[in-house]
Amino acid sequence: MRQDIERILYSEQQLRERIAELGAQITEDFRGKDPIFVGVLKGCFMFMADLLRSVDIYCTMDFMAVSSYGDGTTTTGAVKINKDLSRDIAGRHVIIVEDILDSGVTLSYLKNYLEVRQPASITLVTLLDKPSRRRADVKADYAGFEVEDAFVVGYGLDYAEEYRNLPYIGVLKSEVYSKNG
Ligand code: IMP
Ligand code: MG
Repeated sequence: MRQDIERILYSEQQLRERIAELGAQITEDFRGKDPIFVGVLKGCFMFMADLLRSVDIYCTMDFMAVSSYGDGTTTTGAVKINKDLSRDIAGRHVIIVEDILDSGVTLSYLKNYLEVRQPASITLVTLLDKPSRRRADVKADYAGFEVEDAFVVGYGLDYAEEYRNLPYIGVLKSEVYSKNG
């Protein structure tokens, strides 16, 4: 699996250090607010686990699973909710946790979808931000790293559902795409 990675973009240590900083900042900003962290599956799973370990306030968590309609390369702009929240969020401070903010279509849809339930606030946290690819009007409130326009995998991020288990974030070799279509 690791031979498919062209280069490592963020090592385990870089991820650990940056995520600890994000956690400390969120701790400060949300103290006393008892926020609910909403992880967007499946990409969020490692980031969510590490981020929440460095958040030192009372908080709860929940998960959603979403997928974009379309053929995989083109998104129609609509997002399918595969798993919704298990509790009401009315009056709560919601913190959405995503792996990567790319076109922004997923997060802007999700934000609107949750806003209807009248939470006290909605905050977006993303590990990676690719601002050059933005199509929807959405901005991260907290972002770990700004990345160039390359396809990255690892630490939760997948290509065709694989590579999520890599402990670092790397750029996938282009021959992996061409081989698989
Ligand atoms: P958006 O709706 O275009 O912002 O897409 C966000 C979703 O696209 C993420 O949650 C990822 O699942 C996927 N995605 C976008 N860029 C990458 C990438 O470089 N590697 C892996 N997945 C990506
Ligand atoms: Mg994905």
